[in-house]
Amino acid sequence: MRILGIETSCDDTGAAIYDGQAGLVVNRLASQIELHNEYGGVVPELAARDHIRKLLPLIESLIHDPGNGGRPVDAVAYTAGPGLAGALLVGASVASGLAYAWNVPALPIHHMEGHLLAPMLEDPAPEFPFIALLVSGGHTQLVDVEAAGRYRIMGQTRDDAAGEAFDKTAKLLGLGYPGGPAIAARALEGRADRFVFPRPMIRQGGLEFSFSGLKTQVLTTAREQPRLDSQTVSDIALAFELAVVDTLAIKCIRALKMSGRKRLIVSGGVGANRRLRDRLREQCRKLGVEVFYPRLEFCTDNGAMIAYAGYFRWKLDMENGGCLPSHGGFDVRPRWSLEDLSRDGTDSRAMED
Ligand code: KG4
Ligand code: ZN
Repeated sequence: MRILGIETSCDDTGAAIYDGQAGLVVNRLASQIELHNEYGGVVPELAARDHIRKLLPLIESLIHDPGNGGRPVDAVAYTAGPGLAGALLVGASVASGLAYAWNVPALPIHHMEGHLLAPMLEDPAPEFPFIALLVSGGHTQLVDVEAAGRYRIMGQTRDDAAGEAFDKTAKLLGLGYPGGPAIAARALEGRADRFVFPRPMIRQGGLEFSFSGLKTQVLTTAREQPRLDSQTVSDIALAFELAVVDTLAIKCIRALKMSGRKRLIVSGGVGANRRLRDRLREQCRKLGVEVFYPRLEFCTDNGAMIAYAGYFRWKLDMENGGCLPSHGGFDVRPRWSLEDLSRDGTDSRAMED
């Protein structure tokens, strides 16, 4: 089974081919960072237009890559949601058009399931069950994954996602977009004893997050400084990064203890954060928990995780008697919870809307 995966939910045009036997065959990404940098964040209309420009040439280059050698694919998987509506529609319409032309199924994929499965592209891959910390620009969630396709959200953010907090904080410190890598780089020069920001919601016993207050704290602190010189910016960046990393780590450990699970996977753009990875590795070792990360390029948005999720969905479907949706109409779900992803990969609430 050879699957083409297409990712266009936000500001990365990603495409990849995954083969059930050979593994990942080829993976490419066209980033839009330059395009959105001058606005300090993603401009949805520009994102959609750029996907239109980049996606078909990207797919063509994959199909003819020497690794694939022009071989046909057996299905086309695409991100159907959550994400920016216009951007999602580009991937969905191209995927459905290709699937129709090639006479293969088009498989709608939940973007967060893609992130959640990204560590499966690595060796060793985690086995079920596990706890997943999904931290991206749009989501911050702790998910209990009991078995393939069985998801229970244990806690999530009440306001900003962790990545969004990085992006907004970087913007107000004048560090550009995307904020995560920019803040992490500046934090390396920071002095840890200068500022301390609160760790939001750690005293409450639950697993909810809230990051919007932290951003306001940064703003207030920055305004209080007589001069926002380069060293002060680095010091604030470090204090902010430490507050986010601590908060995420505390809740992860709490989720592991509450559930008794012995494996943790961390994925999504913020999962690329070096300090977070090191912290969780160290704390999980003490707890006797195995921790799994995808490589950095599979933490942020990419086509490989969507191609793999397509393969995963196809396999699940075969085990359950097989009724993959055939090509025809398509739909996108800009808002779509992992918990509403039914066992067959579709939106279990779609009929109610
Ligand atoms: O998963 P992703 O590529 O896109 C979404 O689905 O949102 O995540 C992007 C987010 C951005 O907010 C970006 O600032 C953050 O991930 N990010 C990081 C790092 N690399 C990317 N945050 C912290 N540290 C990083 N090294
Ligand atoms: Zn993402």
